[in-house]
Amino acid sequence: MTDPAFTILPERADDALAIERLHERTFGPGRYAKSAYRLRERMPHRPELSFTARIGTLLVGSVRLSPIRIGEAQALLLGPLTVEPPFRERGIGHALIERAVAEAKAKGHRLVVLVGDEPYYGKSGFRRIPKGLARMPGPVDPARLLVCELVDGAFAGVSGPIRPDWSAS
Ligand SMILES: CC(C)(COP(=O)(O)OP(=O)(O)OC[C@H]1O[C@@H](n2cnc3c(N)ncnc32)[C@H](O)[C@@H]1OP(=O)(O)O)[C@@H](O)C(=O)NCCC(=O)NCCS
Repeated sequence: MTDPAFTILPERADDALAIERLHERTFGPGRYAKSAYRLRERMPHRPELSFTARIGTLLVGSVRLSPIRIGEAQALLLGPLTVEPPFRERGIGHALIERAVAEAKAKGHRLVVLVGDEPYYGKSGFRRIPKGLARMPGPVDPARLLVCELVDGAFAGVSGPIRPDWSAS
């Protein structure tokens, strides 16, 4: 039997509850203590740069992007990325990342950062930020702080604390 096809769609306002439940199932209550969550709490995601994966009408995955700054440089924070367990390992996660990154690039953004596993995100063009160049507002394993340049050389000369970008709201 072949896998049912999935589609990637822009996030809609009425997806919020299903996405919140997906986050709760995936990350549990401990998610609020994570540095990336603490940043996102202070800066809402950008719906036009956030996507869901659906199989039929069922929401099976989500990725969000939020505006941040690294020092003075504008960037986007990718996450959370989540796929419902029964629907993993069929390319949905990478398809969500690629759609969000492509849309960000098309809208003129230059950098996307995230906290995650380099072996996974490396396949979508993310690489480790050299230790000490960018600092999350809380403890993060530096090996998991990754960046993707949407424009060649966009990360050159960028450094500093990572914080919400209030000017983008
Ligand atoms: C991580 C996650 C989004 C991947 O979704 P997915 O739809 O299964 O991903 P894909 O199908 O696009 O990719 C699967 C591939 O990535 C690999 N992979 C999955 N998680 C990985 C990880 N943490 N590190 C390295 N490789 C990983 C799989 O082994 C598989 O490899 P293959 O293509 O060689 O078989 C999903 O497992 C998930 O929701 N996990 C819980 C939440 C999470 O950890 N989110 C990321 C941190 S923000």
